[in-house]
Amino acid sequence: MQHFAIGLAGMGNVGAGVFKHLTQNRALLRERLGFELDVKKIALRDINKNRGVDFPTGIVTTRWQDILDDPEIRIVVELMGQKEESLRFMLGAIERGKTVVTGNKALLAEHGREIFDAATKHKVPVFFEAAVAGGIPIIKAIREAFIGNHIRSIHGIINGTSNYILTQMTEREISFTEALAEAQAQGYAEADPTLDVNGWDAAHKAVILASLAYGFWVPTDKIFVEGIDQITAGDIRFAKKLGYAIKLLGIIKADENGEIEVRVHPTLIPEKHVLASVNGVFNALAVHGDVVGETLFYGRGAGQDPTTSSVIADLAEAAAALQSPRSNYGFMPHGLYGTCKPIDQ
Ligand code: HSE
Repeated sequence: MQHFAIGLAGMGNVGAGVFKHLTQNRALLRERLGFELDVKKIALRDINKNRGVDFPTGIVTTRWQDILDDPEIRIVVELMGQKEESLRFMLGAIERGKTVVTGNKALLAEHGREIFDAATKHKVPVFFEAAVAGGIPIIKAIREAFIGNHIRSIHGIINGTSNYILTQMTEREISFTEALAEAQAQGYAEADPTLDVNGWDAAHKAVILASLAYGFWVPTDKIFVEGIDQITAGDIRFAKKLGYAIKLLGIIKADENGEIEVRVHPTLIPEKHVLASVNGVFNALAVHGDVVGETLFYGRGAGQDPTTSSVIADLAEAAAALQSPRSNYGFMPHGLYGTCKPIDQ
């Protein structure tokens, strides 16, 4: 049976989940895929940190360059989370012809063009299901299931931490600070939760979705972003009294001239609307295609297990593509920046 050696860079919450579930579900994956996915090297910063998962110390290194330098490793998983190091790692992997799997939404939103230009040049696929909406297979849906559609709009709840905070403030009437601390303890929030609450984590995901749907990298300075950090208990009470829930939405729309609007902001949703009942860490996305019509995706949008599920799916696809190379992976953003409609603020 064929074995694919994987290099795992980053052993935080999601990295640990990937190792754990690849190990636990090894027999299932082997049976379904007909090959083995072996983690050959793990690059991490702090060897002594307890990650709640056992892995052989012999495969651990503190230098991600060791993964790049290993010719047997043909697939790398980038879960380091930072920007500069992650970008160097990813570009280094692509230059060496290694397939990349990543969940790094900030990096893709800000450096997507550079990454995909390099990937196109070196004919290396880059998979990023884990970058948007945790366990919901929204990238596959847009990239593959809706390949015969013009995407008219995508809108929904794409930050689990914000949704968790708004839900707890509404249902339990706890403070913003308490709710954020809970989201951090559950492993939903980013290492620096500023991006979760100021709307930029959702904005990065909206940029990725828009870029995927429309085929060019949407510049981050052309989108309107407002987070939930200014929402007070009073706002939530008044909204409730008037029959609304406050939700942080990511909104992506194309008009008939092909101009694209991307924005992220808190929105009043009528209580009867389906998005009003998406609570806690759950995300939901409504995608409208000209052929398929309206579709709705729902699931856990953050946390170790749902995000791990997406990384493993990408690993399976990455290895299958190495076994039988494909000429394309559905529609992907090409290298050029397009234009984006200025938003009236
Ligand atoms: N911090 C992110 C969120 C993690 O809360 O949605 C998943 O991308």
